[in-house]
Amino acid sequence: MARFKVKDKSLAPQGNLLIEWASKHMPVLNHIKHRFMQEKPLKGITLGACLHVTSETGVLVETLTAGGANVALCGSNPLSTQDEVAAALAEKGISVYAWRGETTEEYYWCVNKVVDHKPMITLDDGADLVSTIHKKRTEALEGVKGGTEETTTGIMRLRAMEKTGALKYPIIAVNDAYTKYLFDNRYGTGQSTIDGIIRATNVLLAGKNFVVCGYGWCGRGLALRARGMGASVIVTEVDSVRALEAVMDGFRVMPIDKASPIGDIFVTTTGDIHVIRKEHMLKMKDGAILANSGHFNVEISIPDLDSISSSKRTLRPNLEEYRLQDERKLYLLAQGRLVNLAAAEGHPSEVMDMSFANQALCVEHLTKKEKMEPKVYSVPKEIDELVASLKLRAMNVEIDKLTEEQKKYISTWEAGTV
Ligand SMILES: NC(=O)c1ccc[n+]([C@@H]2O[C@H](COP(=O)([O-])OP(=O)(O)OC[C@H]3O[C@@H](n4cnc5c(N)ncnc54)[C@H](O)[C@@H]3O)[C@@H](O)[C@H]2O)c1
Repeated sequence: MARFKVKDKSLAPQGNLLIEWASKHMPVLNHIKHRFMQEKPLKGITLGACLHVTSETGVLVETLTAGGANVALCGSNPLSTQDEVAAALAEKGISVYAWRGETTEEYYWCVNKVVDHKPMITLDDGADLVSTIHKKRTEALEGVKGGTEETTTGIMRLRAMEKTGALKYPIIAVNDAYTKYLFDNRYGTGQSTIDGIIRATNVLLAGKNFVVCGYGWCGRGLALRARGMGASVIVTEVDSVRALEAVMDGFRVMPIDKASPIGDIFVTTTGDIHVIRKEHMLKMKDGAILANSGHFNVEISIPDLDSISSSKRTLRPNLEEYRLQDERKLYLLAQGRLVNLAAAEGHPSEVMDMSFANQALCVEHLTKKEKMEPKVYSVPKEIDELVASLKLRAMNVEIDKLTEEQKKYISTWEAGTV
C-alpha cells in the first residue's frame, strides 16, 4: 500500500521552509511539542486527520508525532492543500494523501486512504472523515476511541448526528473553545479572507460596498477588517440579536435582497446553504465580486450562477468571470470554496497556534479517558485556560491575580451596598 500521495515530492525543501516559518509563530504548540517529546503521551496511537494541509498543520503533525503518534493525513477541502507542505510531510514519513485541485472523487479517495490506516482517534475539519466512517466505512468504527472537530460547520453536523443517535463515538468540539473561535474564527478569518480577496482580484477595498452575509464569529472579524480597509460594510443576518449587534457595532444591516443591487463585493460566512441565489444575482451590479469563507461551497448557489450565465472564463487564478445573458458580468472567487484557504494561505500561524494547541491537548485528553459516551463534548475548561495563559506568556503579557479578599467577595452573597 502506498503510504502517501502528493503532487510532487521534490517540493519538500520549500515545504520545510514554510513549516519552519509557521513554527516560529506558534510558541504554544512548540511548548506542547517539547513536553510531548519527553512524555510521549501518544505512543502507539494512530491518528487519522482530515485537516487543511497548510504549514500550520505541518507544525501540528510534527507535534503529534513528537508525542509518539502515527499520523495519516488528508486535506479537508479540495483546494486548500499547500503542495509544498504535503511533500515535506511525505518526506518526513507521514502518510499524507493530499494535493491542491483534487476532484470530489479524488478528495474522498484520500479520506478513505486515511480510514485504511485504522485510526484510533480522528481529527476533522468539517466532519467529512467522521461521516465517511459512519456512512461508508463502518468496519473502522470499532477501533475508534474518539475524535476532535475543528470548525462550526463540522460541529453542526456532529450535533445533528448526536441528536438522531447516529454518532457512534465521542467528539470534542475544539471550535467551541474560547481560545479557538474568539481568535481563529474572528481575527483569523477576518484577516485571511481579505487576503484571499485581494490576492485573487487586487481590487481596492476603500470606498467599496462590502456585504458580509452572517454576523457570527467569522462575519464579525471580516466586517471589522473590511471597515479597517476603508470599505463601507453592509451586514445581512437571519438572527435578530446578531443583527442588532451589527447595527450597534456601526454597520448597515439589511436583507440580502436589498443589499444585492448596492454591493460591490459579497462574502458569505454563514455555514448555511444558498444564501446568495439567482434572484439576488440578477439584481447585482455589473462587476460585482462574490466570495465565500464559510466551510462548504454551497453558500453561493453556483448552479444558479451557471443557469443565468451564457459563458464563463478564468481571468486570473481563483477569479472566474460569469457573463450573464444581459451581458453583465459577475466574478466568482475560488469556485465558491473557502476563499481564504484557496486564494491565500488560510489563517496566520499566530491564531492557528491556539486552535492547534487545543487540538493537540484534546487528542491527549481523549487518550487518557477511560470511556466516554458517544456525544459532542466541550473542550475541558483547564485546556482552554492553559492555552490562553501559555499564549499570554509567549506574548510577554502579565495579568493580575485575585487576592484572597477578592476571591471571597466574588464567591459569597452577603456583601451589598455600603
Ligand atoms: N474561512 C475559514 O477559515 C473559517 C474559519 C472558521 C469557521 N469557518 C466556517 O465559517 C462558517 C461560519 O462560522 P462561524 O463560527 O462564524 O459561525 P456562527 O454560527 O458564529 O455564525 C454564522 C452566522 O450566520 C448567520 N446566518 C445563517 N444563515 C444565514 C442567512 N441565510 N443569511 C444571513 N446570515 C445567516 C447565523 O445567524 C449566524 O449569526 C462555518 O461554515 C464555519 O465552519 C470558516
